[in-house]
Amino acid sequence: MHSLFTGPLTVESLDLAIEGLPSSMDGLKFIQMSDFHADRWGLSDQLLKQSIAASNREYPDLVLLTGDFITSKPEPIDRLTAQLKNLESRHGTYAILGNHDLYPLSNRSRVIDTLTRAGITVLWNEICYPCGPGLALVGFADVRSREFLPSDVMPQIPADIPRIVLAHNPDCAEALKPWRVDLQLSGHTHGGQICIPGLGSVPAVATRSYNAIPSSLRRYIPGLRSLTRISQNWDWERGYHEISTDRDSRGDRPNYLYTNRGLGTYPPGRFFCTPEITRIQLYRKSKSQPVS
Ligand SMILES: [Fe+2]
Repeated sequence: MHSLFTGPLTVESLDLAIEGLPSSMDGLKFIQMSDFHADRWGLSDQLLKQSIAASNREYPDLVLLTGDFITSKPEPIDRLTAQLKNLESRHGTYAILGNHDLYPLSNRSRVIDTLTRAGITVLWNEICYPCGPGLALVGFADVRSREFLPSDVMPQIPADIPRIVLAHNPDCAEALKPWRVDLQLSGHTHGGQICIPGLGSVPAVATRSYNAIPSSLRRYIPGLRSLTRISQNWDWERGYHEISTDRDSRGDRPNYLYTNRGLGTYPPGRFFCTPEITRIQLYRKSKSQPVS
């Protein structure tokens, strides 16, 4: 498989101190991969194999896959999963689906079945404790499925238990504000995919301009409007973000979001926006210690 222009793989690192993380879990290491888009043009075999080798070199505790395994046709899931089976970790590989994996429903079941048969656990509004009872892993249904149900799921986790949340679309951080989220891992935006050095991604620049335009004139700019349908918060298109919540005004911690730029692409390709895997290491934090 060849792919459109993407640039070299980048391994990004995030170290995060988490309040209440059991001392036995101090130093836990995760790898996040996202947005494979494994069709003819979206992801090369070379980049995929390179990413899996980079993950295996870290020998993480968990590998977390945050959706968009395919773009539209379901067949590439077989070839992709045959490679994903080679991911190595202490406690397994966990996945959620992205908006491209959802429809038609036959695509959704094929993606879930193929990943599951390969030993990858697919979470759909589910909580599990793969590293032990002191750390919850939550995997949400994508918002486009209309089954993203944080109010059904989040109250099931005891308040003092830290939690890592997988949600494909970073916009979910808005809906998750009422609950403690130590780290939300998302993808979806591909880091904006096309970036202008010194200015930022085209979607981020365009939506900033869109928001500055009087609302009565916005309907004359349909291209920009569709960008806001993909994401409401292009400022969260990549990297680490502190999400202010009402809870932090009451003295609780804010929530935290990390958005991975993804591995795959679709036309016209990536420009100055390299594909990414993320190495995440968690540390135990005392109440007086600042977040790293
Ligand atoms: Fe995607």
